[in-house]
Amino acid sequence: MKRVIVAGAGLIGTRHIAEVERNASCLLAAIVEPEAHRAAQFGVPVFASIEDVTADADGIILATPTRLHSSQAIACARRGWDVLVEKPVADTVAAATAMDAAARSAGTSILVGHHRRHHPRVARLRELLDAGEIGEPLLATALWTVRKPDDYFAGNWRSGSDGSPVLINAVHDIDLLRHLFGEVILVSACGSNLVRGSDRVETAAIMLQFENGMVATVVLSDASPGPWGFESGTGENPNIGSTGQDMLFISGTLGAVSFPSLTLWTGSSDWSQAPRPKIDAEIPAMPEDTPLQRQLAHFVAVMNREAEPLINAADAARTLAVTLDVEAQIKARGVPVSRNAATGS
Ligand SMILES: NC(=O)c1ccc[n+]([C@@H]2O[C@H](COP(=O)([O-])OP(=O)(O)OC[C@H]3O[C@@H](n4cnc5c(N)ncnc54)[C@H](O)[C@@H]3O)[C@@H](O)[C@H]2O)c1
Repeated sequence: MKRVIVAGAGLIGTRHIAEVERNASCLLAAIVEPEAHRAAQFGVPVFASIEDVTADADGIILATPTRLHSSQAIACARRGWDVLVEKPVADTVAAATAMDAAARSAGTSILVGHHRRHHPRVARLRELLDAGEIGEPLLATALWTVRKPDDYFAGNWRSGSDGSPVLINAVHDIDLLRHLFGEVILVSACGSNLVRGSDRVETAAIMLQFENGMVATVVLSDASPGPWGFESGTGENPNIGSTGQDMLFISGTLGAVSFPSLTLWTGSSDWSQAPRPKIDAEIPAMPEDTPLQRQLAHFVAVMNREAEPLINAADAARTLAVTLDVEAQIKARGVPVSRNAATGS
């Protein structure tokens, strides 16, 4: 039985609390939450800060505002706790590097919550790519379109530029692409905020070049109720409506594949022949459990020293560096771009 604390009983923290309570290998030891009323219902000790915690623990899940991740993870490492920290790993690369160093010197582990890596269809996609089913991948494009409700931004840390979907959401797509294709060597991005007009990007286009030579784009918006995105495609997030639509398209020298359907397009040697679709014969069924549950099971294995973190702070720092570069480029190019500025009126 692993004693797990959850810090932050907000949007994602309450999902983590439910998963810890559901996992037979975990005991919810305490909650850290300065807004105590948010945690009272769970019937475990509630502390206002990590420094105040008197409960014994093996590990902690940090589901707190991103700017707090680094200092909190360092404090937890000093207490000897393994950490599962939500993404983005931190607000700066230096802060992520400091977390990594603190865990290394304490002999503890940091697992970063890029939960998509735990999805069985992502694992199968990697197998298909590694097996050369589409030859050498040349290009990929990922889509993410949702309309976030207005109260998501009202009166909290997401109302300002920290609420950018680049930092909160595209970081997942960038990490997924890194997980599949390796390191990014070139980034270009632009964006807008035509709908809400706040001091925050809401729609963006990102271009990436990878060390292996392939290129990828990510286009996203949190102001468009479109059907495409990892969560809506896989149905893995109870807060996001499910459409089952593909959201990632990868093309290579011998064919192509789309995700999450894992439809393979092959049989064309040049443009005179139409590629034909087939569903991968070994496609894993959409799992009953969510990537968040699988991630927690993996965290238990990490706490038991049976596994190394699937993504540690150093690895996540590289995803963060790309993501921060994207955000900086969009800002440098002039977001906010109001409707008036865009139309010149
Ligand atoms: N993996 C995912 O899919 C996913 C989804 C949502 C959010 N996130 C990430 O999780 C983190 C939290 O996001 P959220 O949307 O749940 O935010 P939220 O605002 O809904 O919740 C944050 C909670 O942390 C609490 N808090 C503030 N200061 C604290 C402190 N010092 N110690 C303990 N708790 C404190 C707040 O009171 C609040 O209850 C962010 O880093 C975000 O990017 C990840």
